[in-house]
Amino acid sequence: MATLLKVQAGLFGEQSQSTQLADRFVARWRTAHPNGRVIVRDLNANPLPHLTTQRFQALNTAPEDRTPEQQIVANESDALIEELKNADTIVFAVPMYNFSVPSTVRTYFDHIARKGVTFRYTEAGPEGLIKGKKTYAFLARGGVYPDGADTQTPYLKQFLSFIGLDDITFVHAEGLAMGEQSRERALALAHATIEELTSARAAA
Ligand SMILES: Cc1cc2nc3c(=O)[nH]c(=O)nc-3n(C[C@H](O)[C@H](O)[C@H](O)COP(=O)(O)O)c2cc1C
Repeated sequence: MATLLKVQAGLFGEQSQSTQLADRFVARWRTAHPNGRVIVRDLNANPLPHLTTQRFQALNTAPEDRTPEQQIVANESDALIEELKNADTIVFAVPMYNFSVPSTVRTYFDHIARKGVTFRYTEAGPEGLIKGKKTYAFLARGGVYPDGADTQTPYLKQFLSFIGLDDITFVHAEGLAMGEQSRERALALAHATIEELTSARAAA
């Protein structure tokens, strides 16, 4: 069964612009996959705990050596990774907060970057172990970041590629806080991109 995982992080739940863009995409995906399954991971509604020394040690202890407390931590991370592995399509809805991704997204990344599980180092360098997925990232911003003056997109690209999610399509909605005209223009552009992406997919 085709499975789509939507990872969202907006502070305003279903009202968040990034989530609304992702939902628009997901609705069209559902039409193309009537028997498909959509899993939602809402990092704002259900934030993960920050990575601490204890949590990091738990994640890096061999299963047979873990204490019961460490096993609980590992189970949480394992479940997040299983969610990713079980999905064919992964959709991220990510707002720009203070020039970066929300801290909930950073914490999520801390829990899914697992040596030997989602990445490994070889003599040729790092190798991502979550392979063969199509990833979409819907990014909403209040301002506009022309000429690559945006550190969020390269960061997401670098991290997601590191764990193997290297087939990523970004859809940006920028200037959402710069007046009604700018907002409408940005959303119309993003909506048109979503139509294009989903029409191409449906035709494929
Ligand atoms: C806490 C917070 C921090 C923000 N920081 C930035 C920023 O650094 N740059 C920017 O362009 N917009 C910033 N904004 C505006 C948001 O990017 C904009 O409202 C966008 O729509 C947020 O996405 P969302 O609607 O999915 O939450 C910020 C908004 C909030 C609430």
